[in-house]
Amino acid sequence: MVTLRETEQKITTMNKRIESALNDQIQKESSSSQYYLAMASWAENNGLNGTAKFMYTHSDEERFHMLKLIKFVNERGGVAIVPSVPQPPVEFDSLERVFELLLEHELLVTESINSVVDVCLQEKDYSTHNFMQWYVSEQLEEEALARGVLDKLRLIGGDKGGLYLFDRDMEASAAAANKAGTADKKA
Ligand code: FEO
Repeated sequence: MVTLRETEQKITTMNKRIESALNDQIQKESSSSQYYLAMASWAENNGLNGTAKFMYTHSDEERFHMLKLIKFVNERGGVAIVPSVPQPPVEFDSLERVFELLLEHELLVTESINSVVDVCLQEKDYSTHNFMQWYVSEQLEEEALARGVLDKLRLIGGDKGGLYLFDRDMEASAAAANKAGTADKKA
């Protein structure tokens, strides 16, 4: 027979598989934030100030993704672990390579989010499943954005004028994302 204490524990404690999957995701969001910060710093040092702003904003967004998960785990009776992250690269071969790496990284994050969703279904944890849907949509947007930027860069090739305009566009895109991000965080 299930005791009252066991029932209470079940209600107030997070399922361990879910907790572990969410903590893995916290690690991924944290390392994404650092990765994009390294890209921002590289862009800034290479005269690409618009791209740097875009990457700084993107890094902040990833930190927000991490914080949202930390709060969720703690509020749901789990223990969120603030992870250590490996040092990201200092140098990148080219701007095109930066965005290729960003897209590759986002594809890995999508895979990881899908596996969290999978664990939610296996454990029949529908409220965490519901919470994770925000991340599923966010990944769709981020992948589409990275693909779009990469397509533009490939079109520009080595054209300096094109690159100048590209960098200006990235600044506008960062400003729009900042505005949208502020609204998101208030919601
Ligand atoms: Fe939060 Fe871009 O993954």
